[in-house]
Amino acid sequence: MALRNIVKVGDPILGKKSREVVKFDQRLFTLLDDMKETMIKADGVGLAAVQVGVLKRAVVIDCGERYLELINPVITFEEGEQEGREGCLSLPGEYGTTVRPQKVKVKAQNRNGKWCVYSGEGLEARCFCHEIDHLDGILFTQRLVQEPKEEN
Ligand code: NI
Repeated sequence: MALRNIVKVGDPILGKKSREVVKFDQRLFTLLDDMKETMIKADGVGLAAVQVGVLKRAVVIDCGERYLELINPVITFEEGEQEGREGCLSLPGEYGTTVRPQKVKVKAQNRNGKWCVYSGEGLEARCFCHEIDHLDGILFTQRLVQEPKEEN
């Protein structure tokens, strides 16, 4: 495993749409392993492949309950609403308030190409939505209900 550089806001790649993963091979495994290590090192709760400069529909998530790898993820169900503070490893020090569903179900492939369904609530639901947004070139700053605040 190796740490990868996290792309920061201002880089146009963050606004691009990621491509579907079609090859479940060693190259993908290495990407996912590196993303996991990079997310942990950066003290994040999720990371999308585009954030390490790779336009593939792959994300890793760990909100403290479980570690997940979501390949080609799709939200299939949403329920409720939560308003809360959000940040992003690509926008260091920037936080803002967004509204996300309280519960979501996500259909995604695992690293072996098997389709699975994951239910998430609260922070995990927020994280699913945030990371899947990255795959469509959307940052949380495009979903703010309040102006972002600088924090130290
Ligand atoms: Ni992010």
